[in-house]
Amino acid sequence: MLRRLTSYKRIVFFTGAGMSAESGVPTFRGKGGIWKKYDYKSYATQRAFDRAPEKVWDFHNLRRDAVAQCTPNKGHRLIAELESKHPHVMVITQNIDGLHQLAGTRNIIELHGNLWRTRCESCDRIQESREAPLIDLRCECGAYRRPDIVWFGDSLPKHEFNAATREMKRCNLVVSVGTSGLVHPAAELPVLAKKSGATLVEINPETTETSKFFHHRLQGTATEMLTQLIG
Ligand code: OAD
Repeated sequence: MLRRLTSYKRIVFFTGAGMSAESGVPTFRGKGGIWKKYDYKSYATQRAFDRAPEKVWDFHNLRRDAVAQCTPNKGHRLIAELESKHPHVMVITQNIDGLHQLAGTRNIIELHGNLWRTRCESCDRIQESREAPLIDLRCECGAYRRPDIVWFGDSLPKHEFNAATREMKRCNLVVSVGTSGLVHPAAELPVLAKKSGATLVEINPETTETSKFFHHRLQGTATEMLTQLIG
């Protein structure tokens, strides 16, 4: 039996693309998924960027354009409201859209970077801009800026991954929302929490690769199920 949410001391929401689906941000896999339409090898790898930076930027500018039209949904808002009332709520997200923060979430670890940030290929300068499309693709030093996100083959940012690992090992409850559980190492994080004694809840309309690890499964969309759980 899942206890009342407020009876858990440390709560982690572990979110994936399904969290933002009802905001209109397309997911990666499944019907209408981004990787169905675009071959990730040509658009989401360092190799592709080295070969054709402008082409890779065209794709990411389409994504900036699309995400710029989206606003947080009720699920994002409910998580942010819970954070304001509960002593310890943390979001660990694979999403790069920034919608949790727009909803008011402050305690957040972004495992896969952020679409609104760029990193210089040469001097590593980080810049933030919500410009969509981003016009100036060069850093002041003359080198290309790249989206500061994790592409296929990139390592996860060390600081964020270590912080997420620590948090998972200390929490009492993990609510996983809208992730296929196919992308590693992020997908292993809830299992770490389970090994440390946490209760695991999965919210997803579908059965996933990792469903079997969860103690409780809420089969439905993020907004429906988060309303049941928190609202
Ligand atoms: P996926 O596209 O792999 O999976 C999305 C999940 O959301 C699926 O399991 C869907 O069933 C579920 N879903 C769809 N609509 C939903 C809704 N309304 N409410 C709840 N769940 C819903 O996305 P991720 O698991 O986030 O990495 O993918 C992980 C990583 O793969 C992404 O961060 C991205 C991608 O390549 C990078 O860009 C590095």
